[in-house]
Amino acid sequence: FKQAEENLRSPICCILGHVDAGKTRLLDCIRGTNVQEGEAGGITQQIGATYFPVENIQKRTEKLNADAKLKVPGLLVVDTPGHESFTNLRSWGPGLCDIAILVVDIMDGIKPQTIESLDLLKERSVDFIIALSKADKLYGWKSCKNAPIKKALEQQSKDVEDEFKMRLRNIITQFKEQGLNTELYYKNKEMGKTFSIVPTSAISGEGIPDLLLVLVNWTQKTMVKKLAFRNEVQCTILEVKVCEGYGTTIDVVLINGVLHEGDKIVEPIDTKIQALLTPHPMKELRVKGVYQHHKEIKAAQGIKITAQRFYIIMQGLQDAIAGTSLYVVGPNDDLEDVKKAAMEEMKSVTEAASEGMKSVMSKVDKTCEGVCMQASTWGSLEALLAFFISSKMSIPVRDISIGPVHKKDVVTASIMLDKKKEYAAILAFDLKVTPEAQELANKLGVKIFNADTIYHLYNQFEAYIKNVME
Ligand code: GTP
Ligand code: MG
Ligand code: NA
Repeated sequence: FKQAEENLRSPICCILGHVDAGKTRLLDCIRGTNVQEGEAGGITQQIGATYFPVENIQKRTEKLNADAKLKVPGLLVVDTPGHESFTNLRSWGPGLCDIAILVVDIMDGIKPQTIESLDLLKERSVDFIIALSKADKLYGWKSCKNAPIKKALEQQSKDVEDEFKMRLRNIITQFKEQGLNTELYYKNKEMGKTFSIVPTSAISGEGIPDLLLVLVNWTQKTMVKKLAFRNEVQCTILEVKVCEGYGTTIDVVLINGVLHEGDKIVEPIDTKIQALLTPHPMKELRVKGVYQHHKEIKAAQGIKITAQRFYIIMQGLQDAIAGTSLYVVGPNDDLEDVKKAAMEEMKSVTEAASEGMKSVMSKVDKTCEGVCMQASTWGSLEALLAFFISSKMSIPVRDISIGPVHKKDVVTASIMLDKKKEYAAILAFDLKVTPEAQELANKLGVKIFNADTIYHLYNQFEAYIKNVME
């Protein structure tokens, strides 16, 4: 399906909502994948991207018999974390996207991170569609696999219909309390003023055709100007990581323009794009898998880039760089100018990051009786600290550090042994513990807690503290 006379790029859509509202599962349902079940603790802790070619969207929306012509080449969907600790990651989504899906669990309604997401969308004036997820959880729901939602609702008993109406009404009221008018999408006569609600199930697929069609139709109807393909490269870095078999890589979202193998890029020293990799269509960029190699790629796309060397990695600036632009040196550009622009952006981001660090440090009191915390990056340490300090346990923290747990960290933690024994502990978020460190900890009686999610770490430590108190 080739785009017609209008040369449009794929719209970028980000998915936002409260933790466990069903964002990743919804994408899994469209992709036919199982990303959500592979996530540590079932929570998303990274930003991701998936490309849906228009052929797939067309197939998925067939049952709606829509005569609308799909003019966009596809849809790039960006998944975000809903956990309260990841505000920093969540806030990038609206900055990148043309439209958003706000996922609200039909059983739970509006929750704190729904409101936070709404604020982010308002701040950036991003239009959105509400997916009212988990419709299959209505008691007695009769599943109608992948059916349009209106058809699925017609198949339900009176009881299910009543419960659906009651819950929908409550959620519409909750949105009204936030100052927003919302309505079931097929009853919505004033889209643009009133936000559309599409009930969905990620288990049996009801409402998915509707969601896709509303998204594509709405973007190509109202955003033709914004979606007009432009040659000027606009590209945002999502993540910097070492990737087995590829060395250091950066994951980016290409918003506009074309990237070529061999393009000179600045980040902020100049290097060259060695390989342009994407996951296969309908696969998640953040999940390790088989990559497709490209000579060139047109926006919008989620891409993994490899290069000979990355300054950001060499300088240990991985965290500071995420969310900044990738600078491509065009044939008419002055390399020094581009370098200067890249340096300036990097400096302001680094400064902002160190502001974040200052606020983290202010929560750590080296003179207090408290535990030690470690994580692999400043970003995740910030999230970890925020979670523990605001938790009901309210655990004081006396020391923090980045990277694997070594003997010296155990020594630091052991200071608490004769002051407050239960705090002679290291809380490590997704880290390696060296054998020597573990050995010393065992000998001294320092406890090391290590988990791959903040939740698990919290639960482990809470159970331990409870045990000590008894
Ligand atoms: P975070 O990324 O951690 O914020 O969560 P999320 O919004 O991505 O939610 P996720 O996809 O992880 O789903 C949370 C839980 O809800 C999982 O156990 C899913 O299996 C379940 N779930 C999601 N969608 C549906 C649905 O449509 N129906 C039912 N019955 N369960 C669902
Ligand atoms: Mg998720
Ligand atoms: Na989840």
